[in-house]
Order: sequence, then C-alpha cells, then structure tokens
Amino acid sequence: MSDTIAPTPPVEPTRLRGIRACVFDAYGTLFDFASATARCTDIPSDVRAALTASWRDKQLQYTWLRTLQGEYADFWQVTSDALDFALDSLGIASTPLHARLMELYMTLAAFPEVPDVLRRLRQSGFVTAILSNGTPAMLSAAVRAAGIGDLFDAVLSADTVQKYKTHPRVYEFCLRQLGLEARQVSFQSSNAWDAYAASAFGMRVVWCNRYAQRRERLPGRPDHEIRSLAELPALLENPG
Ligand code: LAC
Repeated sequence: MSDTIAPTPPVEPTRLRGIRACVFDAYGTLFDFASATARCTDIPSDVRAALTASWRDKQLQYTWLRTLQGEYADFWQVTSDALDFALDSLGIASTPLHARLMELYMTLAAFPEVPDVLRRLRQSGFVTAILSNGTPAMLSAAVRAAGIGDLFDAVLSADTVQKYKTHPRVYEFCLRQLGLEARQVSFQSSNAWDAYAASAFGMRVVWCNRYAQRRERLPGRPDHEIRSLAELPALLENPG
C-alpha cells in the first residue's frame, strides 16, 4: 500500500447566480489612490506613505461625518479638506503641493487587471457600472485617463443623492438607475465598510480585499473575498 496521500482536488467556488450587473466602487477598487503621492518622488517614501494613509482616512471620515450631520459637500471639496488636514498634520502644508496632489488625484492609475476584467465581463453579457462617492467630473477624468471609459454602461456618483456611502440611498440610487433588484447586482469594493454595507443592503458582494483588511464587525456579509479583480469573472455565472 502506498503511503502517498492523493492531492485534494481544488474546490470550485460557488458562482453567484442571477447576476445581471457588476458594479464597482472607484477609489481603492478600480483606481489606486496611492498613485497620487507615488508620483511625487521628491517627497521621501515614508512621508508619502504617511500622507496617503492620513489623506484617505480623513477623506472617508469626512464623508461619513458630513452625511451624519446633513452637511453635504462634494467629494472634490472633501478630498481637498482631507488633504489640507493631512499635509498640516505632517508639517508639510504648502499650497503648490496641495494643488499638485489634487491634480494628480484626477488621473489616478487604474489597477493593472482592471481593463481586461471589464472587457471579459462585458463579453460575457454583464452590465458594468461604477458607484462611487467621487463627483461626476472626478470619475469621468479618472476613467478617461485610464482609457476605460468605453467599458462602462453607467458611471454613477453619490453626488446625485447628496449623501455618501454607506447611506442606503446611495445603493438604492444605483438600483434605480440600472433598473435592477439588489440580488441581480454583484458589487465589488476594496473598502471593507462599503462591501459590508452593500451586502446588508441586499446586493451580492465580492470584497476585493487588496489591503488585507480584517473583516468588519458590522451588518452584512460579503459573498466572496478576493485579492484582485482578476479573480472576479470565475465567481459569476454568466447572465442567461
Ligand atoms: C468611492 C470611495 C469611497 O469610490 O472609494 O466611493
């Protein structure tokens, strides 16, 4: 009798069924928000890393706080205020640097797998869309710069409802625009809080956990967790 153990066959993930549209968060999911500071090579790399983290954290906090307070300001303003705060807290506040980083934020790099994944999903018959806090101008500049503008059926901005994710109105707005039910949408976000909220709202969710975040202790439960969007097409049953 041989004592070699037969290899376990790979387990096929359960594909999500009944999905008609793949909807993507923008910043952190399709576009790398670290690419703005990465392009400022005159800033030491440890300062760039601290700036990226502080800028992003403050930006998100301001979206949540402004939504709670009913004090909406658009994402361009929120991003600018957060950058002000981050530069100040690192002791590197400067008007030209602020202007340069804001300009760079308009043309963030897309993650490398993004164009190919979008093409494959569309070839399989899925509707593709963005649902983001970004303003329409920010989103259209980003998709244009990344050369992926023709790979989306819709680019939806929370600016239309004047509230930010995770307010349910934002996810509701997406369904209304697409004319679909929550269960017909696969929502992809690299932001754990966004992934959990969309799931609690009723969408099917693939959490693209690029940043190896811990799972949230919040309502909702993403259906799948992946590390890159390249893994997404294998998780979806093609629309009939
Ligand atoms: C967005 C941010 C929150 O695109 O990632 O909505």
